[in-house]
Amino acid sequence: MPLNVVLAGLLAVLASPSLVLGSTIRGLFDVPNTYPQIASCLAQPSFYSCENTTVIENTCCSPTPGGLVLSTQFWDTYTGYEHQGQILPKGSWTLHGLWPDNCDGSYAQYCDLTRQYDAQPSPATLPDGTVVPPYTGPSLDTFVLGFGRIDLLDYMNKYWVSQGQPNNVFWAHEFSKHATCTSTFDVACYGPGYKKHQDVVDFFQAATRAFKQYPTFDMLATFGIVPSNQTTYKLSQIQTALQSQVGALPYLGCGKNGTVLQEVWYFQHVVGTEQFGHFKTIDSTTKTSCSSTADIWYYERTPSSEREVRLLP
Ligand SMILES: *[C@@H]1O[C@H](CO)[C@@H](O)[C@H](O)[C@H]1NC(C)=O
Ligand SMILES: *[C@@H]1O[C@H](CO)[C@@H](O)[C@H](O)[C@H]1NC(C)=O
Ligand SMILES: *[C@@H]1O[C@H](CO)[C@@H](O)[C@H](O)[C@H]1NC(C)=O
Repeated sequence: MPLNVVLAGLLAVLASPSLVLGSTIRGLFDVPNTYPQIASCLAQPSFYSCENTTVIENTCCSPTPGGLVLSTQFWDTYTGYEHQGQILPKGSWTLHGLWPDNCDGSYAQYCDLTRQYDAQPSPATLPDGTVVPPYTGPSLDTFVLGFGRIDLLDYMNKYWVSQGQPNNVFWAHEFSKHATCTSTFDVACYGPGYKKHQDVVDFFQAATRAFKQYPTFDMLATFGIVPSNQTTYKLSQIQTALQSQVGALPYLGCGKNGTVLQEVWYFQHVVGTEQFGHFKTIDSTTKTSCSSTADIWYYERTPSSEREVRLLP
């Protein structure tokens, strides 16, 4: 994010009428919050999600159902919103989301319409006929800034970059479609001290935390697999590179009949909450859409669609 945007965010926080300066500064530099209130989880059995059939009664303690957690990333070569400064991060794939699949691979979506912030619901009607009303309220940037998390918003603008829609619309989609079905972000888990949108900010934090575990670009590059518009790769090379670093086989998604690399999904089980728990990578339960025989393109990005983000602003 350009410095002027960071400063604008800081000023927005400082100008927030609900916060006096003292508490804002304290909020900015305090230790991270420790919500949801998980002390009661000590009384629950503890194991990796989807690995034990013992019922977890307190669903605030572990994602239930939805214990097959997917940390997903995109490889896009452009965003379509470059004119609005929405540029891809050089040397990195981008964050897609953190999804709560059920242990059998099925999944729920838009589970709490009181926390529906998606301006372009997809699907707009759920399988049971429920219509998901489009959100028209303020941008979710304001939720993050409301908690003083300029650092998180800056990271999201660098690495959680969407193609074909503004980033904040995409983030809202990911929260509303997926995080509302992840039990550890349920509002009830926050207890009486719940501050509005805390669950949203916590989800954004959790999704970025999971994303940082998987530096896909670097893992591929160490095997000599770098974006190229001249050279192609085989699926097995790409799989070997990633598997050797994460200990399990991720799902790889390809377009153009399996010949253009576009996506990776890392499958995980989690012990504890998505907010603070530990993720263990497991083999994909979904068959790759990349061709196992054809040459696969891992395209270079359009130069004007990417920027260096690893330096100071
Ligand atoms: C499942 O969890 C229960 C409760 O913690 C434990 O007693 C049991 O040994 C576990 N079963 C397996 C197969 O790990
Ligand atoms: C798509 O890939 C499959 C399997 O490699 C091949 O049989 C088929 O002809 C391809 N289709 C097109 C339209 O290229
Ligand atoms: C490489 O090819 C992709 C896909 O056609 C294109 O979007 C991109 O601009 C190309 N990059 C370079 C550096 O030529």
